Amino acid sequence: MFTARDRLKLLAGGAAFAFTGCGGGGGNSSTPPPITMTPPTPPTPPPAAFEPAVGQFRDAFSGKFAIGAAIKTSQINEDGRDAEILENQFNSITSEFEMKPEVIAPSEGVFDWTAPDALVEYAESNGMAIRGHTLLWHQATPDYFFAGTPAEVRARLENYVTEVVTRYRGRIFAWDVVNEVVTDDSSLGDPYRRSNWWDASGGNADYIDWALEAARAADPDCLLFINEYSTRFAGKRARYIEVIRDLVDRNIPLDGVGHQMHISVETNASDVLAAIDAIDAEFMGLDQHVTELDISIYADPESCFADQTGCRADYGSNVPEDILRTQAELYRGLFNGFSERNSIKSVSTWGISDAQSWLDTFPVTRTNAPLLWDRDRDSKTALQAILDPDFTP
Ligand code: G3I
Repeated sequence: MFTARDRLKLLAGGAAFAFTGCGGGGGNSSTPPPITMTPPTPPTPPPAAFEPAVGQFRDAFSGKFAIGAAIKTSQINEDGRDAEILENQFNSITSEFEMKPEVIAPSEGVFDWTAPDALVEYAESNGMAIRGHTLLWHQATPDYFFAGTPAEVRARLENYVTEVVTRYRGRIFAWDVVNEVVTDDSSLGDPYRRSNWWDASGGNADYIDWALEAARAADPDCLLFINEYSTRFAGKRARYIEVIRDLVDRNIPLDGVGHQMHISVETNASDVLAAIDAIDAEFMGLDQHVTELDISIYADPESCFADQTGCRADYGSNVPEDILRTQAELYRGLFNGFSERNSIKSVSTWGISDAQSWLDTFPVTRTNAPLLWDRDRDSKTALQAILDPDFTP
């Protein structure tokens, strides 16, 4: 008698038999009927990781805007995956920190060209454009720059700008001449940041003119940019426009407007694109560059930036799929929007892969994933979303 127990044993054996069900089929009761088991459906293999063809990212926007990344010499000296991604997918670089005054002119009268020269030579040998960043900033600048009378400060600044821009004349096509000179404070009655530069100039913004005019004199063909963050916010943007309007109306040399675009997964693409449109509406003829794009995976409250309270908890290596999906959809919306705006001539991400991002320590130390390649230097769904209109993140 073939019992259910017998069948259980047979099933437990996992053997593939023709199962004809209880009492069914031929054969006598003493021999077990053949059991047919449909082998379990193999799990659907994960989709093959998206791997862009060589050049696919930069070529997708050829004729519209350059595709850039902020880099440092440590990434190009190692001949590693970062350099491979850069050479395969980008056609523009920005120095993340090694073209700033604290690196180039660490002490008065001393110039160290080692790192900037290496970056320029690397870019030229790989046919990449170079965005200079940055000649004047209230950070990453040694204190001696601010010493003395306004006339002495001016002379020192003009000398520094002349030295740097002259050295890379005809090689660096655009400089962020002045960076973050617009105040975040809406109560000042004017749009200017109260910085070490403001004070050293005698309590005014004349230093902006000094830097732009010295840069123009040193390389008449170089595109001179002003660069700012948070331009997606109407108040900051209005003050940015006020600063630019003053420069343009006084014929101070200026060729372009930079938008840093350090945003997060809670940012609306429409707010970001509104900043581009607002500049276009005011200043047709100025180029626009997206200069430092990254999309933090944390939707932090203001307090996190103000005093590091209320910050979203660290996801660690387990970034929720829905967060990465939102990030991918936002990147797609931005690049589609950039493609529709002719004034945009360059779009740079602030870094190459999640393995090295300033956002791992800002506004707090935690694992971020703001870029288009992950920590293993594999491309992310965000890049696929940008490049493949049929892909659903
Ligand atoms: O790599 C060196 C290391 O060898 C050395 O031991 C260490 C200690 O001195 O310094 C390391 O370099 C640091 C570098 O980041 C590493 O990437 C510099 O000290 C540090 O100052 C530098 O910070 C940069 C910061 O600007 C100041 O220059 C960040 O990388 C860079 O992401 C950040 O970029 C700014 C933009 O210029 C303007 N917009 C905001 C953006 C983020 O703050």
